[in-house]
Amino acid sequence: MSTEVLPVVTTAAALRGYVSEWRLSGQRIAFVPTMGNLHAGHFHLLQRARQLADRVVVSVFVNPSQFGPDEDYAAYPRTIEADSAGLSENGADLLFYPAVTEIYPRSFSSMAQVEIPGLSNILCGAFRPGHFKGVTTVVCKLLNLVQPDVALFGQKDYQQLTLIRRMVEDLAMPVVIEAVPTVREPNGLAMSSRNQYLSTDDRCVAALLFQCLQQAAEALRAGERDWSAIEGRQHARLCAVGFRPDYFSIRAASTLETPGIDDVDYVILAAAWLGNARLIDNLLVTVVD
Ligand code: PAF
Repeated sequence: MSTEVLPVVTTAAALRGYVSEWRLSGQRIAFVPTMGNLHAGHFHLLQRARQLADRVVVSVFVNPSQFGPDEDYAAYPRTIEADSAGLSENGADLLFYPAVTEIYPRSFSSMAQVEIPGLSNILCGAFRPGHFKGVTTVVCKLLNLVQPDVALFGQKDYQQLTLIRRMVEDLAMPVVIEAVPTVREPNGLAMSSRNQYLSTDDRCVAALLFQCLQQAAEALRAGERDWSAIEGRQHARLCAVGFRPDYFSIRAASTLETPGIDDVDYVILAAAWLGNARLIDNLLVTVVD
C-alpha cells in the first residue's frame, strides 16, 4: 500500500497527462468518483478498485448541480486535507480535485446535460427535483475525462447506481460499472457523510431505518405480497420513533418499477429525515419459493 505523497491534479489537462501515460503502458484504470468527506464506505470502494485495476483515480468534487436551491451545498462537509491523507493511506494513485469552473465553464443551465426520463423522477427524484440530472451529467463528464476501464459506486445510493448503469448502457459508454455493498456502523446504520448531521441520540434511533428494511425483507421472504401493507407498516414504525419519511418502497431490483407478482429480485428503499439529516438506505432481497 502506497504511503507516498498522493499526486493531486485540478485540471482536465493534467488528469489526462497521468491517465494517458498509464494507458500507453497497458495499465488498467479504475475510477472512484466522490464528493469528499471520505469515510470507511469510500475506502471500501477504493480497496475493491485496487483489486480490479493497476491504477486508481479518485475525484473529490462537491457537485453543485445535484443540490436543490434549499439543500446543503454550502454546508456540505469539505475536508480535503483529511481526504487526501486517507486516499494516500488507502492506495489511491491520483486525486482529481477540480474547481467548479473546470467542470462547469459555463452555467449548468446552458451546458449539455444528461437526463434519464422517468427513472430520474421517482423515489428520491420526486423529492429532489433535478438532483439526478445533476448526478448523471457530472458522472458522464467525469467518466469522459478519466476514461477508466471500471468505475465503482456504492450500493447505498441504489437509485443513483441504477441510473448510472442505465446511462452507460443507453449511451454505449465504454466502462464497466461495479457496485460495492454498503458499509454499516456496528448498529446497522449505513455509512454516509451526512450522518454527521445527526445528534448522538439520533444516531441510535437512525439504526432503526435498517431494521425496518430488514423487517420488510422478512415479510417478503415469508411470502407476503401486499407491498402497500408492508410499506405502510414500516412507514408507521419510522414515524413512531421520530423519523419523517419521504418514502418506504418495495421495487423490482433491476428497473425500480413496482414489482410484478412473479418478480424474485426486489429492492426495498427508504428515505427519511431524522433531525437535520436526510437518510437513505436500501436492501436487496431475492425470494425463491
Ligand atoms: O455519490 C456521490 O458521492 C455523488 O453523487 C457522485 C457520484 C460523486 C456524483 O457527484
